[in-house]
Amino acid sequence: MHKLIEPGSRVRGSIKLPGDKSISHRALMFSAIASGTGRIENLSNGMDVHSTMACLEQLGVKFEKDETQVVVHGVGLRGLQKPSQKLDVGNSGTTIRLLAGILAGQSFQSVITGDESIRTRPMRRIIAPLSAMGAQVVASQDEYAPLQIQGNQLQGIHYRLPVVSAQVKSCILLAGLYADRQTTVEEIAPTRDHTELMLSKFGASVHKEALKITVQPAETLTAQDIFVPGDLSSAAFFIAAATLLQNSDLVIRNVGINPTRKAFLSLLCDFGADLEIINVRTVDNELMADLHVCSAPLQAMSIGADIVSQVIDEIPILAVMATQATGRTEISGAGELRLKESDRLRSIAFNLQRMGAEIEEKKDGLVIQGPVRLKAAELEPFGDHRIGLSFSIAALIAEGVSKIKNSQSIDISYPDFFDTMDEIVER
Ligand code: S3P
Repeated sequence: MHKLIEPGSRVRGSIKLPGDKSISHRALMFSAIASGTGRIENLSNGMDVHSTMACLEQLGVKFEKDETQVVVHGVGLRGLQKPSQKLDVGNSGTTIRLLAGILAGQSFQSVITGDESIRTRPMRRIIAPLSAMGAQVVASQDEYAPLQIQGNQLQGIHYRLPVVSAQVKSCILLAGLYADRQTTVEEIAPTRDHTELMLSKFGASVHKEALKITVQPAETLTAQDIFVPGDLSSAAFFIAAATLLQNSDLVIRNVGINPTRKAFLSLLCDFGADLEIINVRTVDNELMADLHVCSAPLQAMSIGADIVSQVIDEIPILAVMATQATGRTEISGAGELRLKESDRLRSIAFNLQRMGAEIEEKKDGLVIQGPVRLKAAELEPFGDHRIGLSFSIAALIAEGVSKIKNSQSIDISYPDFFDTMDEIVER
């Protein structure tokens, strides 16, 4: 499927977004292993979250869905059933890494795999700590899915994360629920803390001290009703459109602004964006707000290793914005981007070059010189939702009609994206 995108003149309106993808995965998984029945409102309708649900169904968890909520009948920490077939996570790195932590604590063997992209993504980062805890994990070339996981009585560990990754941290904390003593994970840099916040809400004992997070073994988790805030990483695309298209004025309601995720907003404000955060409130341990964005000229940005982990999913759209900013934007310390759904540094450079941007690809970053009027082009998402979404916004600010090839890749996180775009973008 291809999508043609005409340039936009401005963005106007007020929108709500689908639920945060990271929080949705966790809400489903934690509800599944909790005791009792919980309700999840505003769950993401992306394919990745469907994959999590499908895996949990194979593990014996029952869901009831209607228009506004999903009811989860928790089976308890040790109530999952051995799946009769391989668990298929599709394209979802969060599903495979977090679920592996839970599977490591079960008494059965399971095999977990995914699509072509998942089968090339690094898994040693979870195999090493899970093995140290006593699980037996067999992987292709010791690194790649399919992962065959033989659960075991796990031992608590003290683990210094060699990579900056919330998925790996969460995997270990979840396995820690099943261990014989406490488990501590030490991070090099802070990453999103949705696991810590939500596990606490479900009654687990999680303690955070600077970059060390300690979880105690749990007897039970208690089912909760959860409201999932709108996804800031999805909001980022429309924040970019409203900033870049002149005379824009957009309100995005109910957006998650967890401090470990909101560096994107502070960064944009530092570089000139006209962005207001209003109605801040706490919902189910997570901060949520409404965002008011108007168009504004941007200055070039400097995005270094110190901040990359906090804007890891927003780098593709930041790179698009940098083409419109005055000066030289440098993104460095971002080698992890090569290990995402696609090699994102490559995917960004490839598409921006096609649009006539001044961009240089480095080993662990990008250098972009702006402002440059982008030209319409045939754009390639490389099967990566965030690339498809970012370049749909680039197409809005380009001269001419662009074509997004295989545009269905956006369904991974944001199936309603083009409908919302048509609602608020004036041509
Ligand atoms: C996620 C963590 C990040 C992020 C991904 C979702 C999560 O990955 O890129 O989209 O839900 O924990 P890493 O933690 O591996 O960088």
